Amino acid sequence: MLKGKNVIDPMDLSLEELDEILNLADEIIAEPNKFTHACDGNVLAALFYEPSTRTRLSFEAAMCRLGGKVIGFSEPNASSVAKGESIADTIRTIACYADVAVMRHPKEGAPRVAAQYSDIPVINAGDGGHQHPTQTLTDLLTIRATMGRLDNLTIGCCGDLKFGRTVHSLIKTLSRYENNKFILISPEELEIPEYIRREVLEKRNIEFKQVRTMEEAMDELDILYMTRVQRERFFNEEDYIKLKDTYILDNEKMKLAKKDMIVLHPLPRVNEISYEVDNDQRAVYFKQAKYGMFVRMALILKLLGIY
Ligand code: CP
Repeated sequence: MLKGKNVIDPMDLSLEELDEILNLADEIIAEPNKFTHACDGNVLAALFYEPSTRTRLSFEAAMCRLGGKVIGFSEPNASSVAKGESIADTIRTIACYADVAVMRHPKEGAPRVAAQYSDIPVINAGDGGHQHPTQTLTDLLTIRATMGRLDNLTIGCCGDLKFGRTVHSLIKTLSRYENNKFILISPEELEIPEYIRREVLEKRNIEFKQVRTMEEAMDELDILYMTRVQRERFFNEEDYIKLKDTYILDNEKMKLAKKDMIVLHPLPRVNEISYEVDNDQRAVYFKQAKYGMFVRMALILKLLGIY
């Protein structure tokens, strides 16, 4: 039963609940007109303490397409946060006005704190370098639609695996499906955090290896999940400059990949995928961005108990 739930971590959703959400997203894609008034009279609060294009606008578009309304802020300095209001007081106030809240925050754990004080469901839209569960829903819907399955896959995660919250949530989730394997491609400085390696991969006996070059992995992969080096999480610019162009996917590297491999990227991209790759039919990252809206429509409907 998803009604009233908070979605802070991917583990907040069981495999059955993930299936329910993905199946409803498929229904919405097939018959969008059926859902045009599903959220009439409901309000979504979008509380963005950090920049966003896809997550914020896809949530807003999702609610609009369901007939609901959206309130919120994309710049915390335009709210009473600038006067020093706490997350607890902010969410208690928002809960008087809205039926569901979406929160992005630079501090890890902030949406969890909000959920503790909230009478309405809180959705984590990305907390620092920690988790991004609705990006994972987007990724799952894209993988299921293009590959036809969520198991028996070899997934290459490439780039900033240390600060890249989308990768943390994706590994946590895909490691719950049968026989998935991971190849983790990163420089030493940007390796996957120890808690993911130990508590998720090693604890569940998931097959994985860590490599330093894309060439070592390309021909094995069913999915290549590219990520941006997260400039905003670095303590100094020098370290970022040194690492930012470690991996650049181009047409030459795509020649090493399987014919049916897919390339995902949560976006935004900076330099890590050359624009020439966009024309390759295996590049599905803009399709992925579109699926993000449909899966968020499904999530809103489930959390509000409408479907
Ligand atoms: N994928 C993602 O979270 O993108 P935004 O930062 O634009 O929301």
